[in-house]
Amino acid sequence: MDSEVAKKQVQEILDASGDGDARLVPILLAIQAKFGYLPQDAIKQVGEYLKISPGEIYSVASFYAHFKLKPIGKRHITVCRGTACHIRGAPQILEEISKVIGVKEGETSEDMEYTLETVACIGCCALAPALKINEAVHGNVTTRSARTMFTAIKKGEKRG
Ligand code: FES
Repeated sequence: MDSEVAKKQVQEILDASGDGDARLVPILLAIQAKFGYLPQDAIKQVGEYLKISPGEIYSVASFYAHFKLKPIGKRHITVCRGTACHIRGAPQILEEISKVIGVKEGETSEDMEYTLETVACIGCCALAPALKINEAVHGNVTTRSARTMFTAIKKGEKRG
């Protein structure tokens, strides 16, 4: 992240945030929309602007699962670990994906290509087991189809 450019972008978000105590979450949403996560410097800048401590901002940000405190990969893979998906093989699917892309749950590949995470429910339990690659939902996944899909993505034959 280019710090001067980023600082200016964060300032634009702050300037457009208006007044009132309820603006912290919308500001954080706008920053994450811009950078894909909440950079440490941005949190500091928000704290200075709103006159609240970075600790308070981190506590709000960590309350909402939506906020990312670390940069995420180009392909954000979210495997559902909800009950419907779990009983239909989500743990094995997660393991298979992890093997294929070489990234453990909760981690991002060094080349920033993949982030692999789990979530309590994607919201399409009828398609269990399900996963998301960025915003695209894939349902009725099997270990085999997951292996095929991620092997293809890795080879650049298919865009996730
Ligand atoms: S439990 Fe997996 S989508 Fe709901």
